[in-house]
Amino acid sequence: MKKIVVLISGSGSNLQSLIDGCHNGTINADIVAVVSNQSDAYGIIRAQEAGIPALCLNAKNYLSRDEYDAALLETIAQYQPDLVVLAGFMRILSSNFVKNFSGKMLNIHPSLLPKYPGLHTHRKALENGDKEHGTSVHFVTEELDGGPVILQAKIPLFTDDTENGVIERIKTKEHHIYPMVVQWFVNDRLTMIDGKAVLDGNPLPAQGAAVE
Ligand code: GAR
Repeated sequence: MKKIVVLISGSGSNLQSLIDGCHNGTINADIVAVVSNQSDAYGIIRAQEAGIPALCLNAKNYLSRDEYDAALLETIAQYQPDLVVLAGFMRILSSNFVKNFSGKMLNIHPSLLPKYPGLHTHRKALENGDKEHGTSVHFVTEELDGGPVILQAKIPLFTDDTENGVIERIKTKEHHIYPMVVQWFVNDRLTMIDGKAVLDGNPLPAQGAAVE
């Protein structure tokens, strides 16, 4: 069985979709640890309730980003994961850390990348009057939110939409597409080759494999 470590910072609803996928057999892997950078992240409770070891590494206890990332690397490495999944992990990771998991680390970002890397993506889409918004699963590279896109899902935006409503609609899509991509990876269907996401031997286009 392949081993997954999930990194979180918050509510962990994406973590829950992965836990559920592992339990109901749609993901053929075990989540062997959950690591949070926030001690009050609800995702820690979700992990504990599922019997998964959950740890917190708080940045306040480290002098620098490099020191924090070295501790994070050491923590994750002891579980020897096949895959590291960022599920709402709201910290920028250093190049050294990212290089260690090149081709073995996924992120989900709530925008139709390359549009809106960084924070407040929903607000930006609404303020700009966008007609659609979405979310992207991508391999993590040294460029922030810049690694090759694997799968995107879209939602329409309406004139009376609120930021919170959009966040929830996007999460519903995320809970569908993230387990799918993780399953592709653990089934050896998905790799990163020369900076491109490759599914079933075919390099994916820049927007990945879009799902409406
Ligand atoms: C998700 O919507 C995810 O796309 C976003 O954080 C949320 C976490 O929700 N990630 C980022 O913004 C990363 N840049 P969750 O804790 O309920 O899974």
